[in-house]
Parts: sequence; C-alpha cells; structure tokens
Amino acid sequence: MKKSSLLTVALLLVSLTGLGVAALSGWLPGASAPHAWSDEQRAIIASLSIDTLPPLPPDPSNRVGDDSRAAELGHALFFDARFSGDDAVACASCHQPDRYFTDGLVRADVGRGTTKRHTPTIVGTAYNAWFYWDGRRDSQWAQALTPLEAAVEHSGTRAQYAQRVAAFYRQPYEAIFGPLPDISDPSAFPPTAGPFGNDEEQSAWAGMSQADQTQIDVVYANIGKALAAYERRILPGRSRFDDYAQAVAANDTEQMNSLFTREEATGLRLFIGEANCTDCHNGPLFSNGTFHNIGLTGTPDEVLDSGRIDGASQARDDPFNCLGDFSDAPAPSCQELRFIKLEGIELRGAFKTPSLRNVGQTAPYMHNGSLADLDAVLVHYNAAPPAFPGHSDLLPLDFTAEQLGALKAFLLTLNGQPNVPAELLQPPAK
Ligand code: HEC
Ligand code: HEC
Repeated sequence: MKKSSLLTVALLLVSLTGLGVAALSGWLPGASAPHAWSDEQRAIIASLSIDTLPPLPPDPSNRVGDDSRAAELGHALFFDARFSGDDAVACASCHQPDRYFTDGLVRADVGRGTTKRHTPTIVGTAYNAWFYWDGRRDSQWAQALTPLEAAVEHSGTRAQYAQRVAAFYRQPYEAIFGPLPDISDPSAFPPTAGPFGNDEEQSAWAGMSQADQTQIDVVYANIGKALAAYERRILPGRSRFDDYAQAVAANDTEQMNSLFTREEATGLRLFIGEANCTDCHNGPLFSNGTFHNIGLTGTPDEVLDSGRIDGASQARDDPFNCLGDFSDAPAPSCQELRFIKLEGIELRGAFKTPSLRNVGQTAPYMHNGSLADLDAVLVHYNAAPPAFPGHSDLLPLDFTAEQLGALKAFLLTLNGQPNVPAELLQPPAK
C-alpha cells in the first residue's frame, strides 16, 4: 500500500472509533467508557486546563503593577487595619487568605452593617477586565480604593489614608512613587476628609482647594496601585482536574483512571456538554469574564439588584478609571472602557461570571450569597427559574439526581490552593 492510502485507512479507523464512542456516550453518558473523549471534547478539556493560562497581561493604567517594591507595600497595606476609620478593618478581614480570600458569609459584615453583596475571592482576578459582581470598576487599583471609603467596609477617608502613608510608609512610598506632598498643615489638609465620609468629613473635603484635593487623590490612587501590585501575585493553583486534563492530552487512560472516578468523568462530560456550563464558565479560569442574568431571586431582605446595567455606567463615571487623570495608560489602551456596553435588557440583573477554581471551598455562592452550597447551586441550574429583573440566560437542565451528583463531583475536582509564595498569605514579617 502507498503511504497516502495507509494514512487514509488510519484516519478512517480513527474517525470510526470516534463515532463509536460518541454514539455510546450519547446513549448513556460515560457509563461504558468514562475516559473516552472525542477530539472535540479533548480540545475543550485542554482549553480549561491551568496549563493554558497565559502570562498575566500588563495593566497599562498602573505603571507599578509589576514593581516588586509596590507589591511589598501593597502586601503590608492589605493586612494593615490602620487603613480604616477606626483601626479595626483590613482588606484581609473579608478577603481571608485561609479561606481562599473569601469570608464564608452570605454578605460581608465587619461589625458596621452588611455589604450589599457577597465577598468574592481575589484569586486570579488580575486577569479580569471588570471588577466587582457588577463590574463597576475597570482596574484592580481603582477597585481597591472603593472599600477604603465605604461606610460598611473600611469607613475611612482618603485624607486620613494619605496621612497614614506619611506616618507609617513614607520611605517605601517615596522610593516607588517619589516625594509625598507636604500635607502637615491641618488648616489646608484636614486630618480626615473625603467625598464619601460623614457630613463633617464631606464638608472638610469640600473646604479644601482643588489643587490640595488633587494632591491627596494622587496619594490615594497610589495606595490602590500598590494594593493591586500585591493582588496581581495571587494566582490560582493546580487542581486534580488539571492533572486529569494532562492525562487526557496524553491519551493516558491508566492515568485518567487513577485521577478521576467514573462519576467525576461523567460530571466533566456533562459540564462541557449537555449542561452547557462552558457557555459561560470557560477558559483556564472557568469564566468568560462577562455578565449574565441567571435568575437569582435573592434573599428576602434584599433590595432588587440591577447588576451590570448600573455597574457599567458607574465604571464609565469613575474618576479613577483607565481614562481618568490618575491612570498611567495612554487613552488608546483603554479599549474595554472606550467600547463599554451601557444599554440592553441583557445587562439588567446581570452579574460577572465567577471563576470556578477552588469553588468547593468558597461557599456560600452567588452575588447575594443566596445559595448555601453546591447542591443548592445545581438545584438552581436544574430548574432555571425566570429572572426578575431582566431575563435569565439559562434554560432548565431537567437532570436526574445522579447527573447533578456527577456535576458536583466534577466541581470538587477544581479545588486547589492559590499559587503564591506562602509569605504572601500572611501579614509581612516586621
Ligand atoms: C467588609 C468586607 C470587605 C472588605 C474590608 C474589603 N472587601 Fe473586597 N469585596 C467585598 C465584597 C462584598 C465585594 C463584592 C462587592 C460587589 O461586587 O458589589 C468585594 C469585591 C472585591 C474585589 C472584586 C473581585 C472580583 O471578582 O471582581 C476585589 C479585587 C477586592 N474586593 C479587593 C479588596 C481590597 C484590595 C480590599 C482592601 C482595600 C478589600 N477588598 C476590602 C468585601 C470586602
Ligand atoms: C449563561 C451563563 C452561565 C451558565 C450557562 C452557567 N453559569 Fe454558573 N454562573 C454564571 C454567573 C453569571 C454566575 C454568578 C451569578 C450571580 O451571582 O448572579 C454563576 C455562578 C456559578 C457558581 C457560583 C460560584 C460562586 O463563587 O459564587 C457556580 C458553582 C456555577 N455558576 C456553576 C455552574 C455550573 C455547574 C453550570 C452548568 C450546569 C453553570 N454554572 C452554567 C453564569 C453561568
């Protein structure tokens, strides 16, 4: 036989086997051959593997994003409760490293009222274009500034934070950002003043000259940029699923068998197939990074949350956004913000698709923390109730309990601790 016809026979055999497997698995998913995957399935599995995670893209709006001195300062700030109105709250109060940077609560509560939404992780968020469940910030540094002045979070003011940088972090700050302005005259620079403070703090802010406000704003933005430089290092780590994906790529059935049970493989088959999860939870972070309404009705005391439709205009109007005065980016690089979608029914009640990495360890779930565990999440996807406000992007799955169990078993294979040096998971040594 000529080489070319040998090849044809080989190809024919491959596609016949492929067909056989597809027919079998269509008849009873994964039952007879849990680890047999078609070329298409293998490509999808490979695309979910952490091995395909690209290097972290630079953030042009933060010139110190990859400066290790800034990351060191940000590391200290992340754990420093002096950066709050009453010396009691740090970022790490809610984004707790030993809980995968979440807090285990339905909605965050540090003793001054609950936040409107549930605390998401910060792991891997440096890959995102939008921050918060509604994407109302367009960079990690602009995001970091928001809780510092929120009444139910750090509840301090930007003038106070600038004073604290001068008092506690002058040397590292100046090494990174250059000289601090002289803010020692309390008549020009009230010790606590900011646009979101209490009445007194707001009027103190309003009484400052615009030039002095800007000097404070620059220090404030730099606090965010240092925090972002630290957060950029908190990346997701390897899970058992990623080892399985490697075995699938190598076509190593023995290895696949030792890594995944039949049920887990069936769950994966449903996740990338019949259940359509990869329509939204795709790529190595298991998120498409965009906003969907999946019809969560919320907790009884919750006010209706319109999600992305409000978040989009807030991102556009944020003075610390990519196009603002405090950004280091040349305007043409702010693509996401320049082409932001502000209108459309699909934005109403829509929230950012979260990553599913390590999802088994970050209950409760969803923007409002309304689903207590993975079983409740799967019951929700199975029924796909209608959404209010807006339209749900889901269709009911109508799966059996066995199929839901397989999906859950698969989700648990995504557990994996963040890929960071251990010292970044605790306050810096003094
Ligand atoms: C009181 C608890 C609390 C504190 C303190 C807090 N956060 Fe958060 N964080 C939250 C909640 C709740 C959300 C989600 C809010 C929303 O989407 O509207 C959030 C969202 C985030 C996000 C967005 C993640 C994503 O997927 O988009 C990042 C990043 C983040 N916080 C970092 C920080 C940093 C940095 C600090 C310190 C400056 C901080 N947080 C302080 C509770 C807190
Ligand atoms: C149409 C897009 C879409 C599809 C399809 C989809 N999801 Fe989601 N998923 C989301 C969005 C958006 C959220 C957050 C929704 C919110 O909080 O309002 C979410 C949240 C979750 C969460 C909670 C994560 C957390 O940290 O709170 C889990 C778990 C989850 N999805 C699993 C799945 C599974 C399993 C499937 C397939 C059965 C699936 N998703 C299908 C978009 C989708």
